[in-house]
Amino acid sequence: MPRYRDDISALRPYEVGRPIEDVAREHGLDRDSIIKLAANESPEGPFPGVIEAAAEALTSANRYPDNDLWDLSHAVADELSIEPRNLLFGNGSTALLADITNAVGGPGTNSVYGWPSFIMYRFAAIWSGTGYVEVPLDDTFSLDLDAIAAAIDEDTRVVIICNPNNPTGTIIPSDDIEAFIDGVPESVLVVVDEAYHEFVDDDRHRTAIPAALARTNVLVLRTFSKIYSLAALRVGYAVGHPSTLVELRKAQQPLTVNQVGQVAAKASLGQPEEIRRRAEANSAARHHLMGVMAERGLPYAESHTNFIFFRLGDQSRGATEEFTKRGVIIRPMSKGWARVTVGSPDENKIFVAVLDEVLESLAD
Ligand SMILES: Cc1ncc(COP(=O)(O)O)c(C=O)c1O
Repeated sequence: MPRYRDDISALRPYEVGRPIEDVAREHGLDRDSIIKLAANESPEGPFPGVIEAAAEALTSANRYPDNDLWDLSHAVADELSIEPRNLLFGNGSTALLADITNAVGGPGTNSVYGWPSFIMYRFAAIWSGTGYVEVPLDDTFSLDLDAIAAAIDEDTRVVIICNPNNPTGTIIPSDDIEAFIDGVPESVLVVVDEAYHEFVDDDRHRTAIPAALARTNVLVLRTFSKIYSLAALRVGYAVGHPSTLVELRKAQQPLTVNQVGQVAAKASLGQPEEIRRRAEANSAARHHLMGVMAERGLPYAESHTNFIFFRLGDQSRGATEEFTKRGVIIRPMSKGWARVTVGSPDENKIFVAVLDEVLESLAD
C-alpha cells in the first residue's frame, strides 16, 4: 500500500452539502422534489446573455484556455476601475486560497483565521503543511479582530478575514478592518475574503480593495460563484499589488480557469441593475427568514449574506437529518447550529413549512 501523509490521510474529503442524488436514494424521494439550501448557491441561473456566450465558447473546447485571461482581466479591471495587473484569477477562489497558502506557508509557519469560518481555510493550511490557529468568534458570531491580532506570532505568514463571514453571515465594520490591517506586520499577508460582498447592504461595510491596491501584504478575494450564479464554472480572483500577485502565480497550476468560465464571467459584467435586483431580492428573503426564526424563538446570527446561521437544538446533525428526510438539504454545523441558504421564494416557503414540522418533531 502506498504511504500517505498522516495529515492528509486524516482528512475527510470536502462535501458541498449532501448531494441530491444521495438524499433521493436514501429517503426514497423524487429527485425533483428535493431542494438544496446547503451550499450558498444562487437560486437563479446565470445573468442575461451568459448562457449564449458560454455555449459559443464551447465550440472552441478543443483549444486550451487563455492562460493570461486577457479579456476577462481587462473586463474585471474596467468594472473595478483598477488595472489588469492587480488581478490574479483561479479555479474558484478556493483554488486561490490553496495557492496563497502554498506560496507563503509550509512547515514551521502558521495561518490565522476566525472560527467557525470557511472550512477551506483549514484545508488549504493542511494541504500545504502549514499550521493553523483558529480564533473563536465573539458572542455576536463576528470575527474577533483583537483576538486574531493577538494570535499572530513570528511564525504567522497569512491571516484570513472572511467578511462577511461564512457560516455566520456577520460583517466586521470596514473601519475596524482597516485599523486591524494597520497593525499587522508587513511580512504577514492579510487575505480579506469578500465572496459575499455584493449581498451586503450596510453602510459600515466597504470593500478592502483600496488597501489591497496600496499594500503588498493585503489581498481581496472575490468569486463569480455567488451573486453571479456561476458556481459550476469555477471562476474566482484575487485583487492585490502586482508584485504580490506575480509571486502567487508561481504557485498556481497553469490554465487554472477554463475558457467557458472565462467567457461566462466576462459576459456577466456590466450589469449593475441585475446585481442590484438579485441583492435586493436576497435581502428581502433573508430578512423574512430571520423574522421567521425570531418568531419561533430560534437563536440566529444577524446575516448580511445569502445564508443564515441558526440554532436548531442540541443535536444539529440529527435535526438537519429531519430536514433531509423531508427533502430539504441544509448544512449541519457544530453544537446544535445549522446554516440555511436563502433560496427562491418557493424554496423559502417549503423551508419554513419543513422548519415548523421539524420543530414539532423535535419537541415530541
Ligand atoms: C467565504 C467563501 N470564500 C470562498 C468561497 C468559494 O468560492 P469559489 O466557488 O470561488 O471557490 C466560498 C464558497 O462557499 C465561501 O463561502
